[in-house]
Amino acid sequence: MYQKWEEKFSVGVEKFDSQHKQMLDKVNQLYDEIHSGHDQKRLKELLTQLVVITEKHFADEENDLKDKDYPELLDHIDEHNNLLQEIHSLKDLYLADRLVLDDEVIGFLANWLGVHTTETDSGYSHLF
Ligand SMILES: [Fe+2]
Ligand SMILES: [Fe+2]
Repeated sequence: MYQKWEEKFSVGVEKFDSQHKQMLDKVNQLYDEIHSGHDQKRLKELLTQLVVITEKHFADEENDLKDKDYPELLDHIDEHNNLLQEIHSLKDLYLADRLVLDDEVIGFLANWLGVHTTETDSGYSHLF
């Protein structure tokens, strides 16, 4: 395990906390695979799953925030799109065998997830 879930990651919304936990689990599974079998097929699957659950999570957040007329929705969507672009290119590079998955990549993923929850998402907590 690379990063344990901590209370500071909570955005105070159960549904979104549990989705964030799933994303963190995926990062930890990637880390564990890198440090055990380093099976490339498995790593490709895990990266693809991370992209899929992230897309679903962002879409869910954006729908709920739209329903609640979140004033910073457009900025929030921009940030989601930037993050998505980053993990898409990471996944595409890895699927094309043009990237080595190592602790640095895991650190990057854990960091973007941490920033997403503790900074970007913390802004909407008061709406729920
Ligand atoms: Fe989120
Ligand atoms: Fe978000």
